[in-house]
Amino acid sequence: MTTATQPGLADRLGGLLGEGAFEILGLAKELERKGHEVVHLEIGEPDFDTPEHIKQAAIDALRKGYTHYTAAPGIYELREAIAERVSDEVDMDVDPNSEVVVMPGAKPGIFSAIMATVNPGDEVIIPGPGWPIYESVTRFAGGIPVFVPLREENDFRLDPAEVRKHVSKKTKLMIINYPVNPTGSTLTKKDIQELAQIGRENNLWVMSDEIYSKIIFDVEHHSLLSEPGMKERTIMIHGFSKTYAMTGWRLGYAVGPASLISHIVKQQSNIASCAAAFSQMAGIAALRGPQDDVKRMVEEYDRRRRVIVSGLNSIKGVSCKMPRGAFYVFPNFKSLGMKSRDLVTLLLNEAYVATLHGSSFGPYGEGYLRMSYAASVEKIKQALEKIGETMEKLSKKPSPSA
Ligand SMILES: Cc1ncc(COP(=O)(O)O)c(C=O)c1O
Repeated sequence: MTTATQPGLADRLGGLLGEGAFEILGLAKELERKGHEVVHLEIGEPDFDTPEHIKQAAIDALRKGYTHYTAAPGIYELREAIAERVSDEVDMDVDPNSEVVVMPGAKPGIFSAIMATVNPGDEVIIPGPGWPIYESVTRFAGGIPVFVPLREENDFRLDPAEVRKHVSKKTKLMIINYPVNPTGSTLTKKDIQELAQIGRENNLWVMSDEIYSKIIFDVEHHSLLSEPGMKERTIMIHGFSKTYAMTGWRLGYAVGPASLISHIVKQQSNIASCAAAFSQMAGIAALRGPQDDVKRMVEEYDRRRRVIVSGLNSIKGVSCKMPRGAFYVFPNFKSLGMKSRDLVTLLLNEAYVATLHGSSFGPYGEGYLRMSYAASVEKIKQALEKIGETMEKLSKKPSPSA
């Protein structure tokens, strides 16, 4: 009998990581299949429906025949709307012909920007805890992730002084994300100015993932692109998924120097050709249409943020910082002395609350959980009660050493 063999896979695959949120979602769905009711705080997507006028624009586009390929960088009118939006916000000219690319989500922009800038052996500055895709793609490209800690005592803000200490002659790219997934923290204008200074002084590429910039509370968002001398070295990543509750439409964009955008367009021609034509038409309606729905959603996130933060802080052994943006909290559970992954399993199997382990956000995430408050206040209160009960039970259990 001959044993069937397969040819080996590429070595570079070893670098790719999955996303923890999808793993936990899978486990939660399995519990639901068995008849349990699970509260979902693990997945990072708005629970709101896409605003009606945006859906209508896609329906109209389908009827008008937007069912074919578009230009690889995206439909011109959408690129123009993006350029106008960014120009208004950062007070500089953006050329829709050469400095904007539309993609099926922000994720492809992140992937392509890292692929286009990082050579094997290059170091990449990544905030930790940070969204795992940055590390994953950096490793895939053969780059070396260099994590800079976001410290709880510094409100999880990226400290430019710490970034400076981690920059070396090998650093090629600095990745910045604010408001931050997973901590909900953001950066001040001064932080941005100092980070821009580091980028300029060290001749770095900078990827600024600002996808949550419209979901912000109490503070203002300052784009890194607006800093002098940054346009030539910065690729700004943005999209429709979070602001307009459009995760399933797969629509995002990148804005940056023509020299880099042209290579991202080339990658897109090789991978996806373009984003779906009718999604792009919906994107125009999102950017140019009324913004009342965005305001309404942000106000509701704000209300939920206060409920979840005060609820978590009232549970013994838990402390939680007030987030300034996105829709995540990153509570500290260190007093339990448990691995965050074990705590996630416990909360899922005993309290039927799905959360995400801090350790899935890189080396500085252990001891924390990420919870998304893109869930109704009622669900959040239900989850808080169950988490409180589980913590109470844990505090009564004799410790293994006793
Ligand atoms: C920080 C960050 N950037 C980018 C994305 C990707 O968004 P998209 O759905 O546009 O690919 C996410 C999604 O979770 C995110 O959290």
